[in-house]
Amino acid sequence: MRKPLIAANWKMYKTPKESLAFLSEFLPEVKDHTASEIAIFPTMSSLGYVIEATKGTNVTAGAQTMHWLNEGPYTGQTSPTMLESIGCTRVLLGHSERRIYAHETDDMVNLKLKAALEHDLVPVVCVGETQEKRESGLTEAVLRWQIACALNGIAGSLCSQMVIAYEPVWAIGTGSVATPEQANDAHAIIRREVAVHLGEACASRMRILYGGSVKPDNVASLMTQPEIDGALVGGASLKAKSFAEIVQNASA
Ligand code: PGA
Repeated sequence: MRKPLIAANWKMYKTPKESLAFLSEFLPEVKDHTASEIAIFPTMSSLGYVIEATKGTNVTAGAQTMHWLNEGPYTGQTSPTMLESIGCTRVLLGHSERRIYAHETDDMVNLKLKAALEHDLVPVVCVGETQEKRESGLTEAVLRWQIACALNGIAGSLCSQMVIAYEPVWAIGTGSVATPEQANDAHAIIRREVAVHLGEACASRMRILYGGSVKPDNVASLMTQPEIDGALVGGASLKAKSFAEIVQNASA
């Protein structure tokens, strides 16, 4: 049995003050929730505050990206060691907005994944096809390629906690959520490719989240699919009430 993970990706939203205001409303709403794990990925400037404010609760926090090296002359970057030093336990890797706007390549995602696993940071590796690739019938090829590159040279024994998020680029922030069947099919492709690289046992344990226009009113139907093990939520995670409803509806 894979325990669902419901995660909030706050992207470039919320000051530390706004992040703490969110938590003071959100934490009481979900304090008795045990059906899923809950995670929040705030901006780097709020991360330390969110980690402190969620200590001893059922919510954990992670970074939206990191470099793969521990230190160096890389202006603007944050390293795995630095994340660990503030009590960070999770990291998003290869989000499509990082791939598009920060030119992150598949090779960089692979280096970051290796670094996360070395540092006991639980990675959420994001993959997903564009509208153009889907329309050209290339969804499976894109997903298999992204997974193969991300997992290159990685041992299955290190991946007991690792998570993958299927986030079709055409569904992110557009309101066009994938149908539960489309998402389930993509997750099955991803799981088969994980099995090729890391083995069947690891693939069957791995949680694969769906992300892209998840809302309180569509999360339950997505979660009925056998291959869907949770959600990565952007826009609808910014309001405490809405994200709490998503957490609750995911296991309704
Ligand atoms: P969205 O974003 O929920 O706003 O579509 C999801 C994501 O980018 O992780």
